[in-house]
Amino acid sequence: MTDAVALHYDAFIDDEMKPVRPLDSGSPVLMTDLPARIQITEEGPREGFQIEPGLISTADKVRLIKALANTGVATIQVCSFVSPARVPGWADADAVVSTLAPTVGTRYTALWFNAKGIERAVVHRDKLALVGTIHTVASEPFCQSNLRRSLAQNRIAMREQCAAHQAAGIGVSKISVMAAFGCNFAGDLSVDDALNAVEDGMQIAADSGASISEIALADTMGWANPGQVRRVVSEVRSRWPTPAIRLHLHDTRGLGIANAYAGLCCGVSRFDTTVGGLGGCPFAVRDLPAGRDGGHAMPPGNIASEELVLLAEESGVETGIDLEALIDAGHLAESIIGHTLPSAVLRGGSLSRFRQPTSQQAVS
Ligand code: COA
Repeated sequence: MTDAVALHYDAFIDDEMKPVRPLDSGSPVLMTDLPARIQITEEGPREGFQIEPGLISTADKVRLIKALANTGVATIQVCSFVSPARVPGWADADAVVSTLAPTVGTRYTALWFNAKGIERAVVHRDKLALVGTIHTVASEPFCQSNLRRSLAQNRIAMREQCAAHQAAGIGVSKISVMAAFGCNFAGDLSVDDALNAVEDGMQIAADSGASISEIALADTMGWANPGQVRRVVSEVRSRWPTPAIRLHLHDTRGLGIANAYAGLCCGVSRFDTTVGGLGGCPFAVRDLPAGRDGGHAMPPGNIASEELVLLAEESGVETGIDLEALIDAGHLAESIIGHTLPSAVLRGGSLSRFRQPTSQQAVS
């Protein structure tokens, strides 16, 4: 391996990433080598129940979370502690967490954006893994739409929330950038827009004495393409080499799984996904006249967990997740919400059934 290749390889290696091909195999290690394993955070409950119309019972939400916990997924984002006036689907977040029983090997997490959210989350600290997150946004109008603050106001809010997290004994270790790849309201965003949003978060962390171990880049509205994922991830990694990078991808136009693959090829080993492709941000919808392209009548869901698991495992990347159990959980999600979900793997099933010998082959 030449020094130049080694340098690139080191630049892209994630903390838990191991090369698929051993370093001493004699062949050059390429920047496109995939991680040996990935960590998937299942966000189906939180993402899905924030957008699905109609009342979904607390018991059904807990039923889905339990089914997901039985798939082997290590982390499940189970709810949002947000304004029930803005997100009625999560008015019962406290009841959901109270009903959950701890499951060995599964961490439960939650999402919040303000002091009231922190207060509510802390009540459940025996059940939830609480991670203080600095939320930044690469687009001014999406910040207004989702968080009801300007970017400048959000910087102040995030400084205050860092202090509130620390006062509550919650470490602040993550920066999450919303709309990092494009925005339904602002249109195309540049790599610099994403970098500036990370920089804002890093500045707030430094001023608060917080040490950042993870930078999450969210394609909240499904604008990313694989080349852009490579560019943004590469720039973020070169500028901040230490924190792990997480991708949170939505799948509006079929590029979601290609974007995930681009991330994998850059050594990204942490992904947020949702079972069946549940989800979507209710504040991402821009009221366009309906046209042949359908506009944005519904916000896009995330890349489906079972699609990423299939992609990873067929590519020799471990996930620790039982695909058959995940597919069952996807069908359960469909029965709970009362309609089909976009995941192709829910329709096509896994490949394992077809790898069994037919009865004729077994006899001969
Ligand atoms: N938990 C419970 N209630 C909350 C709350 C929380 N975390 N945050 C706000 N509220 C309440 C407020 O007290 C207020 O109630 P009131 O009208 O009875 O006084 C009401 O919800 C509306 O609050 P809002 O005007 O939105 O102001 P805010 O500045 O306090 O909160 C947000 C701003 C963005 C934090 C809040 O609107 C929110 O959580 N929005 C949802 C964002 C979201 O989930 N996006 C999708 C995921 S990306």
